Amino acid sequence: MAEKLAIRVAARCACIVQSACYEKDKKMKHRWLIKMISAKRVVCLVVTALIAGCVSTPAVDKTQQEKPRINKLVIHADKGKETINRNIYGHFSEHLGRCIYGGFWVGEDSAIPNTRGIRNDVVEALRRMKIPVLRWPGGCFADEYHWKDGIGPREERPSMVNTHWGGVTENNHFGTHEFLDLCEQLDCEPYICGNVGSGTVLEMQQWVEYITFDGKSPMADWRRENGRDKPWKVKYWGVGNENWGCGGRMEPEYYANLYRRYGTYLRNFAGNRLYKIGCGPSGANYHWTEVLMREAGRHMNGFAPHYYCGSGKKSRSATNFNEEDWFAQLKRALYIKELIAKHSAIMDKYDPKKRVAMILDEWGAWHQVEPGTNRGFLYQQNSIRDALVAGATLNILNNHCDRVKMANIAQTVNVLQAMILTKAEKMILTPTYHVFEMYKVHHDAALLPIELQCRDYQFGSEKIPALNVSASKDKSGRIHISLCNLDPKNSAKLVCELQGTRVKKISGRALTADAMTAHNTFDKPEVVRPAAFDNFELKGNILTVTLPSKSVVLLGIE
Ligand code: AHR
Repeated sequence: MAEKLAIRVAARCACIVQSACYEKDKKMKHRWLIKMISAKRVVCLVVTALIAGCVSTPAVDKTQQEKPRINKLVIHADKGKETINRNIYGHFSEHLGRCIYGGFWVGEDSAIPNTRGIRNDVVEALRRMKIPVLRWPGGCFADEYHWKDGIGPREERPSMVNTHWGGVTENNHFGTHEFLDLCEQLDCEPYICGNVGSGTVLEMQQWVEYITFDGKSPMADWRRENGRDKPWKVKYWGVGNENWGCGGRMEPEYYANLYRRYGTYLRNFAGNRLYKIGCGPSGANYHWTEVLMREAGRHMNGFAPHYYCGSGKKSRSATNFNEEDWFAQLKRALYIKELIAKHSAIMDKYDPKKRVAMILDEWGAWHQVEPGTNRGFLYQQNSIRDALVAGATLNILNNHCDRVKMANIAQTVNVLQAMILTKAEKMILTPTYHVFEMYKVHHDAALLPIELQCRDYQFGSEKIPALNVSASKDKSGRIHISLCNLDPKNSAKLVCELQGTRVKKISGRALTADAMTAHNTFDKPEVVRPAAFDNFELKGNILTVTLPSKSVVLLGIE
């Protein structure tokens, strides 16, 4: 009321002052005098605006609401209901560039230490970050892969041309047995993507029989001949990949029918229960989601959209970019939140009980290839910016774990936003690897509800929230908070209230760097790596943290 009155009084005063000036104007005959009075009018208007500005407190309040003076986080430590499926921290390995050949597979005769042809250093690193699930053999490659070419004595396997990725000829030495051996060495779940685009129903049906049938059958006997007596357990099974594009350029109605047809013949043998995953859309193709959920959703366990958040704005280089590129990249990374919300809303319409999981089986940053490398191999470097892309995306996925049950960053080794880069016998860990290793504490933990109020990170006329957070409570009762400060120049003070728990002890780790473009190389492999972090203060249950610029911070609370 008082505010409204003040505005009215100010407006009335302004009118009186203005009309007095106008009356005076009328009496003036000389031009120079008129000019002078016009100047007075401007002054009057400015005074009016100032008066209105001083008294119109609502406007001031509104600005404060939009840009809070302090960043504030409330964590409801006693209210976790949903579980963060560890498969949200899943990975993807395709026959593409040097992901399989050179990345995972070096062959039994290699001088690089290996176990049955699989690199030991890569396996050890992935086990350390507790890789939960690995998708294979593609990607676009999946829809031109014929599994029977990849079994039996290696020297007898036919070679094939990888037409999607660089047109290279590969010898099929890494096939079903090698992939399932890799998953056993990694202690992770296999996720196989079958060929719909150029394969047949029979081919896919026989693949499942070959892998999982325990009795006597042509496929199971063939597996035994090839050295594996016991069937494997394979739960996750994809029915094609990007069938709107490289997987056959299909219309959603056509693919929905094919999904139903292929899905019918994917059988459960020997106690193995397949979890069937249908091809989802790319980005904002909501029509695809609508049709698939309507026509085939009831036959699916999972539905798999893809989202790549691209690269910078001016430069697409992974390591040579400026703040404009930094901002553009992170803005696009955050867009995944809107995509998940909108695809989920369509899924909710057809599946209100959330029986069908969203499986984001390809995501990540996609930069220009490293200079001098094959364009078809998608080999890119990985900087602290990529760590922020990973940290923020994983926070968003955690916060949507009621629908999102698996996600697979593209790709594990030497391709796109990789965890690991190799060069002959050398191996380095990327900043993205470190985020996955830090965030492993969220695996299968209970998501904690949070309320975050934070300042914006503004660049030019655009802005995004500067902070991005998720929190969970693990089975031992320990609370984990992962925090990203997306601002590359300013640190951020965050006041965090922990409700529903008593804090005894806090520990922290942070991943940050001096430069926006900081990254690890074979000569300097530890430029970006996590360090102990203690820039926080606890008073009762109020924790005040200062997050360094461009950082991913993990706090553990007991
Ligand atoms: O991950 C690289 C490629 O991106 C995959 O093969 C394809 O599914 C997607 O377009």
